[in-house]
Amino acid sequence: MPPVIRFSKLSKSQKIDWLVEQHLNSSSTARETLTQYWNEDQKLQDLHDGFSENTVTNFYFPFGVAPHFLIDDQLVTIPMAIEESSVVAAASKAAKFWLDRGGFKTQIKGTLKSGQVHLMYHGLGSEMDAFYAFAKAELLESLEQINASMKKRGGGIQELSLVDKTKNLKGYYQLHATFETRDAMGANFINTTLEQLATTLKLKASQFQGFSSDVPEVIMSILSNYVPECVVNVSVSCKIDEIGTINGVTGADFVRKFAQAVDIATVEPYRAVTHNKGIMNGIDAVVIATGNDFRAVEAGVHAYASKDGQYRSLTRARIENDTFVFEADFPLALGTVGGLTSLHPLSKLAMQILGNPTAEKLMKVTAVAGLAQNFAALHSLVTTGIQVGHMKMHLVNMLEQIGATDDEKKVLRKEFSDKTPGFSSLRESLKVLRKG
Ligand code: MEV
Repeated sequence: MPPVIRFSKLSKSQKIDWLVEQHLNSSSTARETLTQYWNEDQKLQDLHDGFSENTVTNFYFPFGVAPHFLIDDQLVTIPMAIEESSVVAAASKAAKFWLDRGGFKTQIKGTLKSGQVHLMYHGLGSEMDAFYAFAKAELLESLEQINASMKKRGGGIQELSLVDKTKNLKGYYQLHATFETRDAMGANFINTTLEQLATTLKLKASQFQGFSSDVPEVIMSILSNYVPECVVNVSVSCKIDEIGTINGVTGADFVRKFAQAVDIATVEPYRAVTHNKGIMNGIDAVVIATGNDFRAVEAGVHAYASKDGQYRSLTRARIENDTFVFEADFPLALGTVGGLTSLHPLSKLAMQILGNPTAEKLMKVTAVAGLAQNFAALHSLVTTGIQVGHMKMHLVNMLEQIGATDDEKKVLRKEFSDKTPGFSSLRESLKVLRKG
């Protein structure tokens, strides 16, 4: 197949022609599958096409809600966009459990983000120090215009420093800047600021007389998605005798096993990854529903989980006398203005469902979804196991896949209510049912 020339310049329908011919055996069904996901409202479709490039169709994600979350004494309904069956059900289950036991408590520990201009200089460190002293005031002055509107909103650049990284990499220095970006996630603001710093740095370097080697070379300027200073704490706690019996397990045994499960995920990376994956089921679902960047959040959260050199559980559980405490600190750089949050009609709606929150409030709600999800997973894991609930939810998808009618689904759901379903056993039962 010859490479296609100027593919991005083709019309949407030409792109589909090429795709169907080259990759999908010229199948009319494939073409129909692509086009049946187009929105009838052309304006809305154009909006979605514009979010990305070379768009040929839309990819649906279920958008659900988990009500009954008591967060800092307020009832919240959490919007969640997620394709994994059982995540929203698990969230709702955790919400209901804690609704009668004091709810979720949250606290913002910090909202600072950072970015770096990465530099190489192979002369003396003392020369870089002298250069930084020479350039610092103008570096900051050159940001005034870029910072003006963010400053008005109470944000902007907070600190700038030169960091010597030559012990890690020969010749490597950074301009490390910290930022407050208020309700914006701030990626564009931070990157624009850093690029301006790099431009000013180059100018000042050309004026500085004290380098014994070639002037510092700017390698790149970019925000960091590692946000250990943009953190929210979330917790639940109650007296052990308020827990009650869970799936046949006494409250005392439940909290003991629960805390041990968290300890295992704290010391054992194989378990920690799955444990934290379950947390991200909740966090990503809110991040996606509200139009935030889930890859940035994922990268930042996992880096935070290994901040002491080993990948560990993000949650902590303890028993203090007669009280069970379960909590976490999550690094979450989120925005409630700008970007997709203000463009995608469903993200706007998600924000509305949340009462048009500030970024801090959204950090809190998202953290609650993460802790709730981990609570629900461990709730099942240390009692019945995960498969009973999972397979019950998965059964719906399986029945759909084997082509059962609504009436057949009803019968088969009943038949498999206390069994673990597999495709072959489901097909067999469907066959029997159809034979009458
Ligand atoms: C599945 O998506 C998530 C779980 O595996 C999380 C966990 O094991 O804690 C259930």
